[in-house]
Amino acid sequence: MKFIIFNWKSYLNFKESTSLAKFLAKMKFDKRFKPIVAPSNISLGHLNKTFKNLLFSAQNFDLYGKGGFTSYTSINDIKDQNIKFAIIGHSEVRQYSGENDYIVSQKLKIALSSKITPIICVGEDLLTYKKNKTKSHIKKQLNIIFDKKLKYDEVLIAYEPLWAIGSGLVPTNDEVLKIADFIKLFLKDYTFKKLKILYGGSVNSDNLEMLSKIKNLDGFLVGSASIKKSFINNFKL
Ligand code: PGA
Repeated sequence: MKFIIFNWKSYLNFKESTSLAKFLAKMKFDKRFKPIVAPSNISLGHLNKTFKNLLFSAQNFDLYGKGGFTSYTSINDIKDQNIKFAIIGHSEVRQYSGENDYIVSQKLKIALSSKITPIICVGEDLLTYKKNKTKSHIKKQLNIIFDKKLKYDEVLIAYEPLWAIGSGLVPTNDEVLKIADFIKLFLKDYTFKKLKILYGGSVNSDNLEMLSKIKNLDGFLVGSASIKKSFINNFKL
């Protein structure tokens, strides 16, 4: 079964999110897929309460928890709403809010203690890719993010090359497979209840079939295509 994360980013307003969630809630999903919707924070609580047959994820949360932290999203709020998943370390959060691997590691601990399944994003920039240094970059990220002494529950890792996000470019199947295998190999001595590896970056209706051929991949994190009904229909029974 493959996870399909619909990352709606800031593409949709409340009305549009509600309407698309309604479409998803009515749809009969092929059992081979497990859809998870990550709407904007402002829509998240309402959609989660309204569409009980769908799974939802937060796009982010903060490090601080309850208290005087104006504008932040506390994990308490996510837990209280019974949201089961949260994206951590998305490249856009890294780019616009200065999130780094150390912060990702802290958030991962918070998610673990809050029983929220984390969707951790890692990936290299174009220069690193061109220099053929993707593996060493990913290794550095994993080293900071994960702690051998901890016991993790289910963790989803999305390999998202920064140069593939929103660009229409995708790595070859072979490149994705190599990195997915590398991540699994690197983390083999760490303790996970379940470890799933996803791919993200310009997944769309045109390349989905081809990317679906990648062996042992546990799903996709999809951004801009995930707000299109024509894309969502790919997962229909
Ligand atoms: P994209 O975004 O599918 O629009 O490239 C993916 C992501 O940001 O997770």
